[in-house]
Amino acid sequence: MKPHFPFTFMCLICLTQSERTPTIVGITENQIRNLGSTVELSCSVLYSQDFPVMWMKVDRERTSDPLYLSSDSTPLISDSRFSLRYDKSSTTYTLQIRDIQSSDSGIYKCIIFLSQINYISKEMELSVYSPPLIYDNSSSTIVVSESNPVNLECYAGGTPKPLISWKRENDALLPTGGAVYRGNVLKINSVKKDDRGTYYCIADNKVGEVVKKSIALEVEFPPNVMANRQWVQQAVNYDADLECRVEAFPAPTIVWSKDDITLSNNQHYKITPTTPIGQYRDSMLRVIKVGPGQYGTYLCKAVNKLGESTAKIYLQEVDDPVCPPACGSGHYSAGTTLAPTKSTMDKESKAAEMETDVLTKILLEESETFELFYKPSYFNVVELNASEENSTTAKEPQVAVAPVQCKPASDKVFKKDKSAQTLRSQSIMVVKHKFTNTTG
Ligand SMILES: *[C@@H]1O[C@H](CO)[C@@H](O)[C@H](O)[C@H]1NC(C)=O
Ligand SMILES: *[C@@H]1O[C@H](CO)[C@@H](O)[C@H](O)[C@H]1NC(C)=O
Ligand SMILES: *[C@@H]1O[C@H](CO)[C@@H](O)[C@H](O)[C@H]1NC(C)=O
Repeated sequence: MKPHFPFTFMCLICLTQSERTPTIVGITENQIRNLGSTVELSCSVLYSQDFPVMWMKVDRERTSDPLYLSSDSTPLISDSRFSLRYDKSSTTYTLQIRDIQSSDSGIYKCIIFLSQINYISKEMELSVYSPPLIYDNSSSTIVVSESNPVNLECYAGGTPKPLISWKRENDALLPTGGAVYRGNVLKINSVKKDDRGTYYCIADNKVGEVVKKSIALEVEFPPNVMANRQWVQQAVNYDADLECRVEAFPAPTIVWSKDDITLSNNQHYKITPTTPIGQYRDSMLRVIKVGPGQYGTYLCKAVNKLGESTAKIYLQEVDDPVCPPACGSGHYSAGTTLAPTKSTMDKESKAAEMETDVLTKILLEESETFELFYKPSYFNVVELNASEENSTTAKEPQVAVAPVQCKPASDKVFKKDKSAQTLRSQSIMVVKHKFTNTTG
């Protein structure tokens, strides 16, 4: 279907009608269509009677291999979805494509061949809507050491071209600032450990569903060790718990030592690692029935490939056993409840084995909260309900309720119950118990 030209005749026209040069006066502008729809591509020409006018299609990727669709008013492909219409009055060639397939997208050219080497053309692009698709060359899991630069990359296809945006889990602040970042590459110049976590690349082109990909950023950093309590007190022959909290990635090795001797599980020590929470993990060293030689300085050391960190914990001797962990370790008779309960606080049964001094008494207003911070000794907290009278005029509280069990009160937050309408106040007592060993 190579066009054939009567050259001599053509040149005659060139000479006689030189002012009437063939031109393409208009072509349909770029179109985007849904799959299965119909499109009409029109090309209006002038003074082209003596030259072939063709529609052809070129793929963006393979421009050297065009597909000839029509020549003048003759279709050149057998695909029944394609048809051609020629309107004489407007000298317009209209190519109709029905039931559009994604393979129909591409560049459509309208061409007037003036000679074998000379032609004029105009082109338009037909695009077919397609939902976004995130390409495999996008980042997935990235592991990087603290202070290094890192790029999170995301590429997506689709028609129209999707916009890429970035978010963090729970809409946390991005290292670039703000909650959303637009662009293919989220660049972090110097990664911090707080930058670790899940990032989402979101591709949206308003066609179909938005597509998301999650990218895990893992930041390696040297351990940081903290003693949960730096000073631990215990009487001889009672257990003592020393705890340290380690933040590190990758997971560190945790080693306890005393006087340059590495401690391991035996009849004197028990080391309990806990399940890590994120990049935190706790390690507890229980000193079993502290002997006189076991007081002193303990080291909790954590090591990973990026460094190490050590916390010092001092185990001090005191006269009275400290609860915890003494109370849980069975050195008291089974019948003794160390924390005051309703019964032990009753006047009649007031624990003979326990003397209680009130150290602090706090009255709470409605909804007021009160936090007690742990003191490394044997304080306990008793929560008391005040009488139904106004707190200021209230008599001594009669009932002791909800004693904090024998444990540090560090996490205890008291809040007056709003629903208890008649209750004007609630009082809290911090009491000091003097325990008497009633073994036997
Ligand atoms: C990612 O992949 C897509 C599709 O294969 C490709 O068009 C694009 O150029 C690639 N981008 C990069 C940065 O490698
Ligand atoms: C205080 O008293 C109210 C009403 O008698 C009761 O519902 C509430 O549980 C008590 N508070 C505590 C902490 O026990
Ligand atoms: C409680 O105090 C308020 C004002 O502070 C007073 O009006 C009210 O009568 C008091 N109630 C009782 C039961 O004392």
